[in-house]
Amino acid sequence: AAPAKNTSAPLFASLPADIQEAGTIQVGSDLAYAPMEYLDEDGKVVGFDVELADLIGEQLGVEFVFNNAQFDSLITQLKSDRIDVAISGMSDTAERQKEIDFVDYYNAGGVLLVKKGNPSGLQSADDLCGKTVAVQRGTTAEEVSNAQSTTCTDAGKEPVEVLAFDRETEAMLQVKNGRADSGMQDYPVAAYNARTSGGGNDFEIVGDQIEAGPLGIAVSKEDTQLRDAIQEALQAVMDSGDYQKLIDAYEVP
Ligand code: ARG
Repeated sequence: AAPAKNTSAPLFASLPADIQEAGTIQVGSDLAYAPMEYLDEDGKVVGFDVELADLIGEQLGVEFVFNNAQFDSLITQLKSDRIDVAISGMSDTAERQKEIDFVDYYNAGGVLLVKKGNPSGLQSADDLCGKTVAVQRGTTAEEVSNAQSTTCTDAGKEPVEVLAFDRETEAMLQVKNGRADSGMQDYPVAAYNARTSGGGNDFEIVGDQIEAGPLGIAVSKEDTQLRDAIQEALQAVMDSGDYQKLIDAYEVP
């Protein structure tokens, strides 16, 4: 576990008073998104985002506490102050920037994840016309799939049938059971699932990354001091080389 409040940490003084007082930063996160954030067999919160938060927390002298939440509730929770930040592999998009601020920490796009052997013979998102894609509700994958459907119908082809689920794990099950032709997930997540699920026999990745862009730690627009403190702490983690060590440890491609 991350150390408790440490008032002599390098960036403790740059935190807002209420966070200094609490000694914690309350995080909202959908903890079913391996390897970014998930629960291990013992129910412990683990993953790339979690370890990065620990490193940032060391710089700030406070502990990031992860609270499990549904992904599509995170922005509302932030705006209503029920959480201090959202760390959930969340893409920093122009659309979301209208509502919240981001501290970017990684770059990833979506990619198609299909059943091993690629039974529907998909090569790219353009092949989704007339096919079924399973995605997590409220994600960029859902948006991209809906946009692709419009592209299909504009071209006089069949629309994409987009099946949306609260958890990414439910969407993946559809692909595994053959009830969806494809899933669409952030590249590091799809790569992890292709490598690990069923000992590497359940899924494979098809085609290139779609609309790659930054993932960010999301902060309320009112919390500029917290945002800037996290930004500074992240920079320190990057300058120290610890960020690169984390990337290497997770073999995030
Ligand atoms: N990057 C995508 C998005 O922001 C998906 C993130 C899903 N994260 C999660 N923990 N389930 O929409």
